[in-house]
Amino acid sequence: MRMVDIIQKKKQGEALTALEIDFAVQGYTKGEIPDYQMSAFLMAVYFKGMNKEEISNMTLSFVNSGDQVDLSAIEGIKVDKHSTGGVGDKISLIVIPLVASLGIPVAKMSGRGLGHTGGTIDKLESIEGFKTELTSEEFINNVNKYKMAIVGQSGNLTPADKKIYALRDVTATVDSIPLIASSIMSKKIASGADAIVLDVKVGDGAFMKTVDEARELARTMVDIGKMLNRKTVAIITDMNNPLGHEVGNANEIREAIEVLKGHGSEDETTVALTIASHMAVLGGAFNEFEEAYKNLESIIKSGKAIEKLKEFVKIQGGNSEVVENMDLLPKAKYHIEVKAKEDGYVYHIEAEKIGIAAMLLGAGRKTKEDSIDFAAGITLNKKVGDKVSVGEAICTLHTNFEVCEDAKKVAEEAFYISDKCNTIQYIHDIVM
Ligand code: URA
Repeated sequence: MRMVDIIQKKKQGEALTALEIDFAVQGYTKGEIPDYQMSAFLMAVYFKGMNKEEISNMTLSFVNSGDQVDLSAIEGIKVDKHSTGGVGDKISLIVIPLVASLGIPVAKMSGRGLGHTGGTIDKLESIEGFKTELTSEEFINNVNKYKMAIVGQSGNLTPADKKIYALRDVTATVDSIPLIASSIMSKKIASGADAIVLDVKVGDGAFMKTVDEARELARTMVDIGKMLNRKTVAIITDMNNPLGHEVGNANEIREAIEVLKGHGSEDETTVALTIASHMAVLGGAFNEFEEAYKNLESIIKSGKAIEKLKEFVKIQGGNSEVVENMDLLPKAKYHIEVKAKEDGYVYHIEAEKIGIAAMLLGAGRKTKEDSIDFAAGITLNKKVGDKVSVGEAICTLHTNFEVCEDAKKVAEEAFYISDKCNTIQYIHDIVM
């Protein structure tokens, strides 16, 4: 078999066999196929696409390129969730203790943030002592005993995806549905979950810019999950605007605590309860979504959810006192208000720009090697639909940098003020 023939076949729009896909993927991972041939192959896939069978074979090839986590020692249906990436997206921090409090095992593998989107592992590490590197034994024991555990994506899990993703990043081939679907689903399958809830973000802060594109990605991932015997549901949620009021690391932990105490904003609470309810149904706790939703709402009201969060922080080695005393979380030295320049209503807050501004303040990484400042971030004082007057604070920048004019300018540009009032649809569709 020759890589050039595989590229030629895909360039002509023909379907590849499982053997051909595996030859390309394993050959590239082992360093036997050079970057220039894999780049040409990825561009051919970008333009000609792949059918479901090819995507499923590509997913399996990624899975087989490295280790797989064996969760068979954990009793019950193990559920996981994955977001395609957003700004202010703290949903995992909320749903892990919430779903675990129903007795459903939540075995979560999460990533770090890159570029304008944040990562759950970074956020949790802003809690003093919180350990995100667990041995397999610790991970399995925690899920068995407490029904929840989280680990970072380390070790030799899907190395093919890791290498190909880095190449996609520099060859303009990230936003391809077959490539995104196989990348995400391979990580979920290698990390051992029986049931997966996917949060597919749509809007200017997401890879998928339109609901139709997001629906196609969601359908593709759900079908791949089913073909590989995983119960899979995808929720298409809004990422035109950041979620909640807080963007950053420590400040997103603060806001997740507020949601679990029952004081969350409407967008975040709705998205978190929707995702948690689907996890609860897939995990077998309820037959109906509505029943799960009502039950989870009452778990928040009763105080059980916040107690479960305390337990989560404690079993991962973190200081659980932060739940009652949020002053124990890292705080920035400077707090700079960005003021409205006109009267009206907040019509739109561009999620990508807020993510970039937060990164410039120190909350995110421009490259994988950068370190992050847990205290840095942005508070959105005003959200879509809120009335504003000239001179009122629309957002507050938290930073340890003395000068942050570039971040201030980007944050200011993210806000669109209009004389018309706008509302946001939080959930666009559910694909199952
Ligand atoms: N997240 C992933 O893990 N892979 C992609 O291709 C896109 C988003």
